[in-house]
Formats: sequence, structure tokens, C-alpha cells
Amino acid sequence: MNIWSRRNFLRAAGATSAVTLMPGVHVLAAPARALREAQQAPVAANDHIQIALIGAGGQGMGDTKAALNVPGVKLVAVADCYNGRLARSKELWGDDVFTTRDYNEVLARKDVDAVIIGTPDHWHKQASVDAMKAGKDVYCEKPMIHLYADGPEMIETAKATKRILQIGSQRVSSIVYKKAKDLLASGAIGKLNMVTAYWDRNSAMGAWDYTIPPDASPETCDWPRFLGTAPKIPFNAEHFFQWRKWKAYGSGVAGDLFVHLFSGTHFITGAHGPTRGMATGAIRYWKDGRDADDVMLGLFDYREGFNLSLRVNFVDGGEESEGLIFTGSEGSFEIGWGGLTLNRVPRETAPGYTVSTFPEAMQKEIIAEYNKKYPPHSGKEEMGGTEKFVTPKGYSDSVDHFRNFFHSVRTREEPVEDGVFGYRAAGAALLSNLSIERGQVVNWDPDEMKLV
Ligand SMILES: NC(=O)c1ccc[n+]([C@@H]2O[C@H](COP(=O)([O-])OP(=O)(O)OC[C@H]3O[C@@H](n4cnc5c(N)ncnc54)[C@H](O)[C@@H]3O)[C@@H](O)[C@H]2O)c1
Repeated sequence: MNIWSRRNFLRAAGATSAVTLMPGVHVLAAPARALREAQQAPVAANDHIQIALIGAGGQGMGDTKAALNVPGVKLVAVADCYNGRLARSKELWGDDVFTTRDYNEVLARKDVDAVIIGTPDHWHKQASVDAMKAGKDVYCEKPMIHLYADGPEMIETAKATKRILQIGSQRVSSIVYKKAKDLLASGAIGKLNMVTAYWDRNSAMGAWDYTIPPDASPETCDWPRFLGTAPKIPFNAEHFFQWRKWKAYGSGVAGDLFVHLFSGTHFITGAHGPTRGMATGAIRYWKDGRDADDVMLGLFDYREGFNLSLRVNFVDGGEESEGLIFTGSEGSFEIGWGGLTLNRVPRETAPGYTVSTFPEAMQKEIIAEYNKKYPPHSGKEEMGGTEKFVTPKGYSDSVDHFRNFFHSVRTREEPVEDGVFGYRAAGAALLSNLSIERGQVVNWDPDEMKLV
């Protein structure tokens, strides 16, 4: 039975601990306290994990800052294809940090235990495989894959080399998503039937029009290395610095943003992925030479008994917002930035009636019978209402994601988001691009991780 009672609710609330701020508003606390405390214990100098960054752009630098928040972690090297970012790395982390354009020089270093890969998507597979083969553990940014063939190769390499491979969808380590998982499992919203998720933006930066530095040139940018396996074209600063706008390097809004929504949905529900997907999309506003859509809608079927709809709109007429709404038979919860709102609406136990179109005598007869069967006040279960769960000030799921990664590096335990999880999220997200390309519904086997 899925009826929500106070006892269930308190049990679920306790699974991820929370402090009540005011009636109905709870501040979430980190669940893995023991782990956290263990990791915050002083670390002997020779027990440091030495890391390197490959791809020192916006996310790579952000990741490195988050990683260095974890005690016992030291950055020793950075590889990037733009001189300005190598110079910036030295400004941020000191002259002792070794910098190079060629990540193979980083991988050859014996003092590097693990690497963060923050390159464009088309380099994720090769950089990860090269790093694992060189004996390094890998934190690879999302989306794990650019092409479907990337997934099996990355998973196989992690297995063969016995390296830790964690993918960078930080929501998988978030206390908010853990709360959502606990609430769903405890029956807080009854039986899940639908997930509706969106990520809308309305700005040039949101639409990937990142700043191109004034010194961008073939001298300051290692263009052939940036291109890698992408089609060979003459140096193009826009392609180099705003690569997400082209499918040759990025995976469109599906690979950038749908993948976060899939990771969150899979983590909360435990589902492996959709069995089929269909999508529609177009370039509605940013007609600046890009080939990646700025509006996309996707629909997906899950055999766990729910449907998923996803939306990204880069011209939404408002402010950037992200949300995932989980709808069940007895309520819903919505995850937004900074927390989760639970709305519990117990089902009516009396069915109600529609009789006004029947003859009057019959109406009276039906109503009398109904009142006998369903006495007044038996309609609603107790316990409806709204509860909010918010993150503490300054909370960062990225830091928690790195804490989990380094825990795996130290203990050799499976990471929270391994290659299989990462491939299932990215493989599902890229169904949207395939569906638009083919003008068809596309089928996917989420267990075998194969297109069918
Ligand atoms: N987890 C998240 O929330 C999140 C957020 C933003 C971006 N990302 C991911 O991070 C990755 C990077 O995105 P970004 O916005 O930082 O891009 P970016 O353009 O700011 O940085 C990418 C960097 O990679 C470098 N690079 C390219 N090829 C390289 C190579 N072969 N070797 C070394 N360096 C190379 C480029 O010179 C550039 O500096 C993407 O895959 C993106 O999807 C994740």
C-alpha cells in the first residue's frame, strides 16, 4: 500500500538527515558523515593524491577548485590547447605546476595518480582511455560519450586496467538527489508515473557564446590537437572557444543538459534508462552559423512504469531555470536549484459521481446509494501538505562528487558514477539527437546499452 503516513514520512526524512528551520522547511545535512569525517582527518604528506587537469577551460578549472577542496589532494600538472589557460593555471595554482599542450606528457609523469578530463566532448573517450592505460584514475566530465562506440571502449578499458572511472554529473553525489531518492523509495508520492524535467536559458553565455580572447590565433591555440578526430578545417577561433555550437565537438543541448536530467532521473529511480525515445528540435533564435539546436523537446518510455519528458529552450523569455518534477499517484516533488519541494496530495478514496444528465428520480437514487456507501468525511486521507528541503548555505555537490571520487581512488571501491552509469545517461541523452537526425522514434536497450 502506498498511503503516506506520518510514520513513513519521518522515516524517509531521517534517511537523509535534515534540521527543521521552520515548520515545513528543513535544511539537508550531508549523509555520509563518517566518510566525511574520515576524509577530513589529517592526511600524511605521502598520502596525498596527486592530480592533473586535462582541459583547463571553464569546467576543468571549476572542477579542479572543487577537487582541491577535498583534504589530501594536490594538483601537479595541467594540459590545455590554449596558452592563455596554461598561464592562468600557473596564476591560480603556482609556478610549480607543470603545464603543457600535450596531455601525453602529463600521463607519462609518475607523480600523477588521477586526472580530471575537462576537454570538449569529442576528446572524452580518447583522453580517458589514454589516461587509464597510463595507470591513472579518471574523473571524466559529462557527457561521457560523444559517439555511441565510445561507451563500451571506456567501460572495457576501466575493467581491463582496473582503474577508477567516474563521470562528472555531480548531481549523483548531491544531498538533494539523495533526499529525493529516499522520498521516492519510502512512498512519499505513491507510485511514480511521470518525470518532467527542463533546463531553460535566455542569454548569450547560456547559449554557449563564450568570450573569445583577443590573442586567439594558430600560435596561441594548438588547433590540430584541439581538432583531434574532428573534420580538418582551417583555424577557427569560434569553433575553438565556442565548440558546443557544433556537433563535431559537442553533443548539443542533449549532451550538455539532457544528460544531467537523465543522470538525476536514473539516480533517483534506479532505472537503467529508457527503452525508446523521440525528440524534436530546431535552431529558433541563435542563427549564428551553429549546427546544434537551441530548442529541444524529448519524450522517453521507461519500463519501470513512468514516462519522461525533457525540454531545453535557449530563448525562453525569462531567467535560466532548471527543474525536475516527479509525479506520483499521491503527490509530487520538484527539484530546483538549492532544494526540493514535496507536495503530498493523498488520493480521494471516494470516487464521486456525475448525475446531472440523468432523470431526477435516478439522480436521487444514485446519490442515496452513494452516501450510504461513502459516508461524508471519508473522502480524504489525512496528511497532505508541502515540505521543503533546502541545502545549507554554500553547499556544493561538485565538492561531494570529488569527495566520492577520491574515496574510490583511495579505497578502490566502485565510484558512485561509474562508466556504466555514465554511458546509460549519455546514451539515453543522445537518443534525442539520433531521433531528430532520423526523423524517427529510436529504440534502446538500457541493460545491454545498445541501440536496437
Ligand atoms: N558537470 C557540469 O556541470 C559541467 C558544466 C560545464 C561543462 N561540463 C563539461 O566539461 C567539458 C568542458 O566544458 P567547458 O565548458 O569547460 O569547455 P571549455 O571550452 O571552457 O574548455 C575546454 C578546454 O579543453 C581544452 N582542450 C581541447 N582539446 C584538448 C586536448 N586534446 N587536450 C587538452 N586540452 C584540450 C581547450 O583548449 C579548452 O581550454 C565538456 O565536456 C562539458 O560538457 C560539465
